Amino acid sequence: MSVAPALSTENLTKQFRHGQCAVDGLTLNVEAGQVYGFLGRNGAGKTTTIRMLLDLVRPTSGAAYLFGVNPRQDRSVLRRVGALVEGAAFYPYLSGRANLELLRRMLPIGSRTIDSLLEQVGLSAYGSQRVGSYSTGMQQRLGIAAALLHDPDLVILDEPTNGLDPVGMVEIRQLVRALADREGRTVFLSSHLLGEVEQICDRVAIIDRGRLIREGTVAELLDTHTETVCIEVEDRQAALTALSGRWQIAPGAGDRKIHVVTIHSQIPILIQHLTAQQIPIYGVTRERQSLEDLFLTLVGKADDA
Ligand SMILES: Nc1ncnc2c1ncn2[C@@H]1O[C@H](COP(=O)(O)OP(=O)(O)OP(=O)(O)O)[C@@H](O)[C@H]1O
Ligand SMILES: [Mg+2]
Repeated sequence: MSVAPALSTENLTKQFRHGQCAVDGLTLNVEAGQVYGFLGRNGAGKTTTIRMLLDLVRPTSGAAYLFGVNPRQDRSVLRRVGALVEGAAFYPYLSGRANLELLRRMLPIGSRTIDSLLEQVGLSAYGSQRVGSYSTGMQQRLGIAAALLHDPDLVILDEPTNGLDPVGMVEIRQLVRALADREGRTVFLSSHLLGEVEQICDRVAIIDRGRLIREGTVAELLDTHTETVCIEVEDRQAALTALSGRWQIAPGAGDRKIHVVTIHSQIPILIQHLTAQQIPIYGVTRERQSLEDLFLTLVGKADDA
């Protein structure tokens, strides 16, 4: 017997009364246990897709499924899902703990203890502080705690690191990764930050103007285009000789650096090759945010279409 994916869509489409198609024939499959990135620039259709998944917006055509069940036909499946959509709204004059207590009382089913949730999202020390005095990052973490209240199998997070500083982003990323790795939940998260998706997701779907333009593992996506790697060596000429013929060298770089154009999976082979030729390596850096490049290339192509 085949197990239904944790989340899937079939030709999911939303045409608002005015304007272009927000989501256009989207077909996705998210297997259980993954952290799945849903990547697209502003207005690409991420939130609209998530709203349809949660039965907050009715699809114009096509369907969304959670664990193989269409939530429009059986809303009980939503009990297996926790979500944070475009920032959670809390009572600012109540503490974080009191807000979670209120939400818990509305749940028809058993839930986790507030203490364990506050601890999980790193808010133990701030539970009794008013939410109005929380930083954006703390509010975002409280939103994730609220999404986890009823111990969901699938967690849907719409831009969970929006508005956070770099430290807050790292904390949320670790928290999200742990939801899958330590707790076995499936996470579907949207983002317009390419580096973020590259760092925490197992698979990625890239959408533009409501349409799926690429889907695959992060490694697969990275290997579909070239990137430039900067290698720091002692003797540039010796390194160039060692690489000549087989590797594409980009112009530029100083006395002690060479830029090699390659694909992601070839980077370790490149380094092994240099080492085998007795070329000591002092540093290796990827020149650009590679998924960003990929994204721009793909979206650029979509623009031409
Ligand atoms: N209720 C609505 N009525 C009409 N148009 C809408 C509505 N909600 C969204 N749209 C339009 O649908 C498109 C997709 O919007 P959506 O909010 O899904 O994008 P997004 O990828 O979440 O963007 P962002 O990164 O800015 O959050 C946009 O063009 C938006 O203007
Ligand atoms: Mg959005």
